[in-house]
Amino acid sequence: MKMNSRPPASAESLIAGRLAIAERRCQKPRPMHASSPRPASFSAPGPLRGSIAVPGDKSISHRALMLSALAIGESRVEGLLTGEDVLATAAAMRAMGASIERGDDDVWRIHGVGVGGLLQPEGALEMGNSGTSTRLLMGLVASHAITATFTGDASLSKRPMNRVIEPLSLMGADVTATPGGKGGTLPLMLRGISPAVPIDYRLPVASAQVKSAVLLAGLNTPGITRVIEPVATRDHSERMLRGFGAELEVEQDADGARIISIRGEAELQPQHIVVPGDPSSAAFPVVAALLVPGSAVTIANVGLNPTRAALFDVLRMMGGDIEFANPREVGGEPVADIVVRHSTLKGIETPVETVASMVDEYPILFVAAALAEGRTVARGLEELRVKESDRIAVMAEGLRAIGARVEELEDGLIIDGTGGDPLPGGATIAARLDHRIAMSFAVAGLVSKAAVTIDDMGPVATSFPGFTRLMGELGAVAA
Ligand code: S3P
Repeated sequence: MKMNSRPPASAESLIAGRLAIAERRCQKPRPMHASSPRPASFSAPGPLRGSIAVPGDKSISHRALMLSALAIGESRVEGLLTGEDVLATAAAMRAMGASIERGDDDVWRIHGVGVGGLLQPEGALEMGNSGTSTRLLMGLVASHAITATFTGDASLSKRPMNRVIEPLSLMGADVTATPGGKGGTLPLMLRGISPAVPIDYRLPVASAQVKSAVLLAGLNTPGITRVIEPVATRDHSERMLRGFGAELEVEQDADGARIISIRGEAELQPQHIVVPGDPSSAAFPVVAALLVPGSAVTIANVGLNPTRAALFDVLRMMGGDIEFANPREVGGEPVADIVVRHSTLKGIETPVETVASMVDEYPILFVAAALAEGRTVARGLEELRVKESDRIAVMAEGLRAIGARVEELEDGLIIDGTGGDPLPGGATIAARLDHRIAMSFAVAGLVSKAAVTIDDMGPVATSFPGFTRLMGELGAVAA
């Protein structure tokens, strides 16, 4: 992301911002993706060729909206992902007082309320499928004297929220199940507190969402809030909080754990942010090009933050021909064009140290492993069981259904690859409201003899709108 400081807003623009609140309160709730399933079958009649750019980074987009909505004055965001998850964050920030508009030029203009200035939302905050929106926004609400109810779809309503409830409760927030809810999962009601209590919190799970929830709560908490992270997770929150002017320090203790300290009651300055392409979305065309014989594809402008990009290192370890062309830095985030050519992959034992830096990429890595020569052993993946679906079980079941040889472990998979031969295919895969499952099996369809049908491509709109069109531009066929 690129950030340029802009002068703080005038009193008039603040008043104008507040006046706009009433108008926004009248806006209709945002529609979530179509409830009727959208099945599709994918195949590749020939090599994949060409150059595409994937949509903006989902993690950076959420944070850009949240922090802009807390800065006083106008922030501008270019390249924002317009996936449903990010739109859920935008709707929630509007409901809490920010003005967020998308211009005809596709630049988003955001007028924030100031740290401490979030307003009581009138209705429930509808989070759709988005764990990131939920957990980060719970952090923001926790240190404001407002109450918000969080609701989500069937997938999100199964996901564990105690991991954020625990630290936010230590800071003074009160989280209760809504009538009919069972606690620990959505729907939940969070009553924030101001002033909240600063804490030192050691993350019990490697989770950027939990880290970010505590840091965002710390933003409006007097004194220093600290998060100790034994395993490094994506650091977009830290980079962006600093970029907006928060006082944030990162140190390392003797055991290599990162200690992140944020001074609360910060004043955020509006920024101009350019969001790079999402490496987690680029992963799908990258693996597709590696697997489909004769392919040569470029994916332009992909964010390659080291806390995100481990998939590409692992694919290279497997023999993947992947180059980073035109490497550059865009406002503190490394970016490059990825050039990828068909390769014969070899199975490996995937490194456990970098699980967090590719946590969303395992479903598509499993597809690559299913076509590799020899055995791939991927372990240390307990967290995959609590993503949008249980990605270990769902990938094992789906890969078996299309003829791959897979053994499911409690914390991962063992996959014996075909050595480059196509998979038998010929099955319908249940995407289970999980965008990355849907896209992974779409790619598997490109290297299967008989059609692979995804029962519902609808969830793909949460993170990668335009997936089917872009894959089509490279030569894939969806029917
Ligand atoms: C995200 C962090 C990851 C990732 C998710 C986005 C973020 O979750 O799976 O898609 O933006 O912070 P965890 O931090 O819970 O592992």
